[in-house]
Amino acid sequence: MEKIIFDTDIGVDDAFALAYAAKSCDILGITCVFGNVAVEQAVRNARLFSHKIGLDVPVYRGSSRPLAHLPTPSAWDVHGADGLGGVFDNPWSGAAENAIDFIIQSVRDNPDALTIVAIGPLTNIAVAINQAPDIIPQIKRLVVMGGAFGSHGHSGNVTPFAEFNIWKDPHAADQVLSSAIPVVMLPLDVTLEVTVSGDDIRSLNHPVLSTISQGYLAYSKQHGVEGMALHDTLTIAYLNHPEWFGVTTSPVRVVTDRINRGQTLRQLNSPATRDDPFAGCRPQSLCLTVEAEHVKAHFMAALRQ
Ligand code: RIB
Ligand code: CA
Repeated sequence: MEKIIFDTDIGVDDAFALAYAAKSCDILGITCVFGNVAVEQAVRNARLFSHKIGLDVPVYRGSSRPLAHLPTPSAWDVHGADGLGGVFDNPWSGAAENAIDFIIQSVRDNPDALTIVAIGPLTNIAVAINQAPDIIPQIKRLVVMGGAFGSHGHSGNVTPFAEFNIWKDPHAADQVLSSAIPVVMLPLDVTLEVTVSGDDIRSLNHPVLSTISQGYLAYSKQHGVEGMALHDTLTIAYLNHPEWFGVTTSPVRVVTDRINRGQTLRQLNSPATRDDPFAGCRPQSLCLTVEAEHVKAHFMAALRQ
């Protein structure tokens, strides 16, 4: 089983991804970050949802705001006021041990053997490699849900240019994606291609997933979309079946300010002769196509009760 750290701003699709990861991964710990909700709520959600699905893994508290930009509102409109559809009472505390320390120590204890799955803003990862650059060559790989490169017309979901996780902290994303860490990106190019309907979710006979996703489905319907994109779940689908993804290799940079804040850029032509923004950046693995039906079928089979 793939040994992972699950770094999340746990909202509804994060929860779907966690339930899926619990079926096929060895989860050392859940590290929480701001994003869909405040980081304290993410800790509470991770504990609540883990308890409801019978998952017993430690939960850690990480970054509460972006590296440089002012904080922006949580995604309460999509994920509900509490981030999990506002349907369950949550008695769990938001206090927890430090996520950054856990990430650093876990990588040092598992050199070249630990995959970090990052499905929220990349702030925790950026802080960890800033504090302990020695871990960069020891991370087996970082699998990220984030970014958008325009395939199938998917160029952004927060703005026309930017995907939510990257837009929330573009400085952190630029530092991490341009680093020497081996990164696999699952951008909107593929995550918007794999959707489940309300009937699909109900057919899982999974009361917790059905309950928390009602609000998300209603939000989608209000915006003319039937069903919900599985987004974060595709990180786990990649770990299970990388062969179902078409991968393009390119260095990646992130626009940090102005109208296209959070836009992810890949190298489309030969390197510039002078100020090349990709110079020295590791070529990363970008999943730009996906065998959507295979991914959806595998997810449904894994989660059906
Ligand atoms: O753009 C989709 C991403 O933003 C997902 O990780 C979702 O959970 C939200 O955080
Ligand atoms: Ca997320």
